[in-house]
Amino acid sequence: MTNQEIPNLTAFDDAALDQAFAAVEAEARAAASTLTDESSVEAFRLQWLGRKQGRLTEISARWLKSAPPEAKKSLGLRFNALKDVVEGLLSQAAGSGPTDAALAAEIIDITLPGTRRLTGAEHPITRTLNEITRVFAALGYSVGVGPEVETDFYNFESMNFPPGHPARDTQDTLVVANQERRPLRDRLLLRTHTSPVQMRTMESQPPPVRLIIPGKVHRNDAQDATHSPIFHQVEGLCVDANITFSDLKGTLDHAMKALFGSAVKTRFFPSFFPFTEPSADVQISCIFCGGKGCRKCKNSGWIELLGCGMVDPAVFVFAAEKQPAYDPKKVSGFAFGMGVERIAMMKYGISEIGQFYAGDMRFLGQFV
Ligand code: PHE
Repeated sequence: MTNQEIPNLTAFDDAALDQAFAAVEAEARAAASTLTDESSVEAFRLQWLGRKQGRLTEISARWLKSAPPEAKKSLGLRFNALKDVVEGLLSQAAGSGPTDAALAAEIIDITLPGTRRLTGAEHPITRTLNEITRVFAALGYSVGVGPEVETDFYNFESMNFPPGHPARDTQDTLVVANQERRPLRDRLLLRTHTSPVQMRTMESQPPPVRLIIPGKVHRNDAQDATHSPIFHQVEGLCVDANITFSDLKGTLDHAMKALFGSAVKTRFFPSFFPFTEPSADVQISCIFCGGKGCRKCKNSGWIELLGCGMVDPAVFVFAAEKQPAYDPKKVSGFAFGMGVERIAMMKYGISEIGQFYAGDMRFLGQFV
């Protein structure tokens, strides 16, 4: 911007002075508004405040010195006010980052896509856990939890695995070190199943109980395509007067249909667990071939999915030590336990259990 020459003043009344100073001030503001970088700020400083050729020096020379004595005072006041304005403009431009002009020059393309934030999602195991829990919540079950570091008593003894009993060998156990000085029942281990929460719950509340227990469990098993030393189970417990095996069958048949579709059939195979009598393994008709027989069901048409049975009276006897209402002559009940990974693998067609724990976004991203 080229500066206009400072005109000579012809009149010195207030109106004429206001007009003359306003014009110069407007010019200074306009110049300041175009400043974009350090060098243009420096040029502005020289141009306006430079001692020899600055415009303020020029104004002082032309206007102040030629003014009649009676106008000098009001001229001087206006001159100082102008100087304040120009100095203010300069310090503003020098000290405050990008100026308005710099901002105006910056081109913002509003059609560019914004920064994407990844949306979090439920892990497939959590999702399956929640799905199973919801099925039972709809039947009036409440949700319970218990500790992962458990005592021998809750994990085994109270679940009717006596010390030294060979049934303990079916759940190869990770134990906490340096517990030998404690009585066996108090020794700590990583729970091998969610069943100990059955006992903890019965000890803390009288019947009736309808409870679902989702949780993490640990076994000293080698990892392979379908086994992991850490996995998840959902346990169920129902205790009341007159609970029968028919109730167990009806409940699990309903749950399997809710989880895998109403076409699914269930069948109950004799099995053994120390804490249920009778015990059964539940099989569902193969969801891949509809029961005709395929590789997934080893041509049997059936897939084994969970363990269950009627609560063994010996378990009620342990519970009755703290809650006498669990008298095996008065109450009966059923329990079941299912592996969450196994169910998730079937539902989502996953063939490697390790995928659940690898933290690979290419895998997890499919569940968003
Ligand atoms: N706790 C058993 C297991 O981990 C499963 C089970 C639970 C069986 C409840 C019967 C009743 O193998």
